[in-house]
Amino acid sequence: MSQQLTLHTQQSKKPKERAREKRVHINFIVGDVTNLNFIRRRKYELAIDIGCLHMIVDEECREKYLTHILHILKDGGKYFCCNIGGMEDISLKDLMKKMPKPGKLIPRKIRLKGGKEKVIMLPVISAWPKSDKQYKEELTQAGFKVLEIYWKNTRALGGCWIIIAQK
Ligand SMILES: C[S@@+](CC[C@H](N)C(=O)[O-])C[C@H]1O[C@@H](n2cnc3c(N)ncnc32)[C@H](O)[C@@H]1O
Repeated sequence: MSQQLTLHTQQSKKPKERAREKRVHINFIVGDVTNLNFIRRRKYELAIDIGCLHMIVDEECREKYLTHILHILKDGGKYFCCNIGGMEDISLKDLMKKMPKPGKLIPRKIRLKGGKEKVIMLPVISAWPKSDKQYKEELTQAGFKVLEIYWKNTRALGGCWIIIAQK
């Protein structure tokens, strides 16, 4: 059986329930992706990142995260990265000028059990929608070989760059 590991910053019941329903064996761990030292090096063939990298706006933390991914991948292992992005390069400084300040409360619509909608106030979370060129440079600099990069409008996250990179 292949080993799957998934990392979260919070424990959530839903992924566990879904894994049980689908009869998939997943080892869920709550942890910080910028420190994966507790995982044996060269253990995995594939790392999947759906919307995690774009949320890390500190450049040093992004670098740490990508380095840790490289460490836990086997040689030749793949990194599947699906993160929000844009067509134009954007610096963190310009992004911070453009977006509402992280932590600011804004109204968001949520759907309740039974389908009813409600507006609640939620804090803005920072995210860095880099261009394909920026993602490619960043991953290459970290030590990955970028095999493929393409644009997709995803259901969960909206416009994303999908990157398949190799160790
Ligand atoms: C946009 S959500 C995507 C969640 C999930 N992959 C999905 O598709 O539903 C981004 C996730 O990245 C997690 N995240 C951000 N920084 C992290 C970190 N340093 N370590 C672990 N998880 C992190 C957040 O907790 C959040 O759950």
